[in-house]
Amino acid sequence: MDERRAAAYWERNAETWTLLVRQGFDVYRDQVNTPAFLAALPDVSGLRGLDVGCGEGHNTRLLRERGAQMTGLDVSTVFLRAAAGAETSAARIRYLGGSATRLPFSPATFDFVTAFMSLMDLPDQQTAIVEAFRVLRPGGFLQFSITHPCFGTPHRRLLRDAEGMAYAVELGRYFDTKDGRIERWLFGAAPPAMKQGLAPFEIPVFHRTLSDWLNAISRAGFILEYTGEPYADDETARRFPNVQDTQVVSYFLHLRCRKPATA
Ligand SMILES: C[S@@+](CC[C@H](N)C(=O)[O-])C[C@H]1O[C@@H](n2cnc3c(N)ncnc32)[C@H](O)[C@@H]1O
Repeated sequence: MDERRAAAYWERNAETWTLLVRQGFDVYRDQVNTPAFLAALPDVSGLRGLDVGCGEGHNTRLLRERGAQMTGLDVSTVFLRAAAGAETSAARIRYLGGSATRLPFSPATFDFVTAFMSLMDLPDQQTAIVEAFRVLRPGGFLQFSITHPCFGTPHRRLLRDAEGMAYAVELGRYFDTKDGRIERWLFGAAPPAMKQGLAPFEIPVFHRTLSDWLNAISRAGFILEYTGEPYADDETARRFPNVQDTQVVSYFLHLRCRKPATA
């Protein structure tokens, strides 16, 4: 599946996605993934930042709240309209349409680039990482989160005990990197009555192995400086039972890599 077809799926997902995340139903993002991402983020106050695959802008706004001058970029016009519609702050975020693989910016425009759960949603991840490298100033960094390549394999089945607690995950087809398989789901935390009236998301999957990701980073010229595998603490798992399964294996992988100051 090529990038344009993948983008068309996201355009169709965007309205329902925005509706549900703005009511707090993406508990994995809000309770586990984004807090860990932000905890690992260097100080961005006063820096020029680009958020690639910004969606409806939730995480871009959190970066703005940390004092960064933000630009958000996405392929979906529906997402971008929702993001722009949420702008109430005087320090406005600039939102632009475009692809991660052809960033509409000159070299060395940004001090940092983020991509929250977006790079695994496009086929040519190597080019997206090379593009992030190009638009960063020397010494700048790219920090991104993806579905964990080792635990988000094409075959994956969560195992629960008699009490309904997740305790293991059956994994397979790790080396199957065939593009464009479609996953269909809605956020598990959304009430069944609400989900009944909604068509499930259709998400094209571009699975890569861990080595593919790490090699893409070093081929682009980056130096890897941080790796994170977030999971819910016991208190969070108690308050939000949906995310208890993140204590079994990590669903997300966070990487931060730096463009050498001499590049
Ligand atoms: C899982 S959503 C994440 C959205 C947002 N970053 C968040 O964390 O809430 C993936 C996003 O990647 C975007 N996307 C997919 N392909 C893209 C591409 N080629 N270039 C830029 N964004 C893309 C989608 O439109 C969608 O907004």
